[in-house]
Amino acid sequence: MLCLGIESSCDDSSLALVRDGALVAQATASQSSLHALFGGVVPEMASREHARFLGPLCDSLLADAGASPEDVDLVAVARGPGLLGSLLVGVAFAKAFALGTGAGLIGVNHLHAHLFAAALEQDLALPALGLLVSGGHTDICRIEAPDRIILMGRTLDDAAGEAFDKAGKMLGLPYPAGIYIDELAEEGRADAGLFPRPYLNNDSLDFSFSGLKTAMAEHIAARRREGLEAAVPWNAATGLPELPEGEARVRLADLCASYRLAVVDTLAAKVEKALCRPAMGDAVSIILAGGVAANSLLRSRMRALAETRGKHFFAPSRALCTDNGAMIGYLGWRLAELGYRHGLELEAIPRGRRVPDDMTRML
Ligand code: KG4
Ligand code: ZN
Repeated sequence: MLCLGIESSCDDSSLALVRDGALVAQATASQSSLHALFGGVVPEMASREHARFLGPLCDSLLADAGASPEDVDLVAVARGPGLLGSLLVGVAFAKAFALGTGAGLIGVNHLHAHLFAAALEQDLALPALGLLVSGGHTDICRIEAPDRIILMGRTLDDAAGEAFDKAGKMLGLPYPAGIYIDELAEEGRADAGLFPRPYLNNDSLDFSFSGLKTAMAEHIAARRREGLEAAVPWNAATGLPELPEGEARVRLADLCASYRLAVVDTLAAKVEKALCRPAMGDAVSIILAGGVAANSLLRSRMRALAETRGKHFFAPSRALCTDNGAMIGYLGWRLAELGYRHGLELEAIPRGRRVPDDMTRML
């Protein structure tokens, strides 16, 4: 079965062709450099860019794969959660493609697609504990099957990716700052006492990262009072930040290492707690997914945690961690194999609303 996967839930327009679970080709247009000018995603601009990109991307994807629109058997589209305007562009495109070619249609939960992204590269062992860490979500799930994913914990405020991006913005790093903080942290020495591990003194599997951001703001203010540099200066000519050299660089790297450690310690503590729950008693693996799954320390920590607990560990390669059409195409294909489809009434679901279980089972 040849499946066209469409991702447009945030600021990446990405289309992929997946044949029976294997990636054939992918075409992506990232809008990060546009939104970086504003320090975060501007929803109205994101939808316009998707509307501009999806058609040409689809043409070049089909040309690369030597396929015609009629070769596509199934159109899988990220139907939420995400930015409503952006999702509507992708969903409308998917419906038009399905209607015009006679292909089947399936709306895919963007978060579930992240959790299954590693399956494009390796066979996953289930049931699994899933840790989904992205710019908009931080979820702990029990993963039983493509159509049985049970949410056990989520963030009450900021997501792990937001914790990185907002702290990065205060430091003067470009958006999205997660990767910059990660790279600088690799050079630095972490001070485990500098930042708190928020929301751990409870039985809940939920997260709360907004306090970490406040702790960073207070730390930067204290530095200013000491007369130390507080943020990375930008070069007006290049429009890029000018990373400092010497002592200031060491201080920045150490700060990033301390902040990254606080985020990773917090995520790891909740995963340990979740593994002790009776509902996770039979989990045979840990699956790490989402944009923040590209974080070097988080990957090594989760791998070590899985090993200590005698579980398999899966994380997608870095290219498949961030938003991509391949993961949408893959999960769409798995769901279609189970007999699920959507009709043209398929709705886009914005962030904050639960994605309904409204697929029709044909088998
Ligand atoms: O999954 P994703 O591409 O988009 C959403 O669905 O949100 O995740 C984007 C997030 C951003 O917050 C970005 O800063 C973060 O992933 N990210 C990282 C790293 N690479 C991307 N965070 C920490 N370390 C990284 N290496
Ligand atoms: Zn995502």
